[in-house]
Amino acid sequence: MIDCKHEKRGKFITFEGCDGCGKSTQLALFDQYLTSEKIPHIFTREPGGGKISEAIRNLLLDGKNSEMTDECEALLYAAARVQHLHDRVEPALRAGQLVICDRYVDSSVAYQAGGRGLPETFVRQINAAALGNYLPDATVFIDLPPEEAFRRKHGADPSDRLEQAGLDFHRRVYAAYKKLAAEFPDRILSVDGRNTPEGIFQEIVSALRKKNCL
Ligand code: TYD
Repeated sequence: MIDCKHEKRGKFITFEGCDGCGKSTQLALFDQYLTSEKIPHIFTREPGGGKISEAIRNLLLDGKNSEMTDECEALLYAAARVQHLHDRVEPALRAGQLVICDRYVDSSVAYQAGGRGLPETFVRQINAAALGNYLPDATVFIDLPPEEAFRRKHGADPSDRLEQAGLDFHRRVYAAYKKLAAEFPDRILSVDGRNTPEGIFQEIVSALRKKNCL
């Protein structure tokens, strides 16, 4: 089990949202901001962020793996997550760095439980068994309904197994995110994804400052 009571730990911030919500744009803006403010930080992403978890990522996102069961998918995400925590997140937090992670356990609740329809207790339990109560200090949820995301993207990317699942799947993912945001209002900071990129960015920075994460 990972020791979270270490002194001078950095803060752990995760970014969440439906595919195409503008997360990558905000992560890039945030990176520029942290660099210009000279705040020591690392950016990382799930699934991935290390040799083993990148190998699991390739398995998960490969369009040829369409026979993968939903349970196998959920377990692989949890496996990639615990390895990634061990390899990248925890060492950086212990070194006092701010860790920004593109997706974390909320993605599993939203995609594997909400989207795929696995029981939420199963998804929560496998993650809890692997991670304990290892939660971020703050989670930024970019709230953009999937209809709007699809419109912006001019349709799905056909080579991506998850994007093929279509609009109904993404509607369920979005509903699960909204439920999580309502359930954990202290941790999950919702920002309106329909705002301008600059407006969203300002909202994110001020919300994170209020939470003493910056
Ligand atoms: P990626 O190409 O990194 O997309 P994005 O830029 O939207 O994050 O692919 C990650 C995909 O994996 C994305 O569709 C969400 C999905 N995913 C899950 O289904 N469950 C999870 O636990 C995680 C972390 C991601």
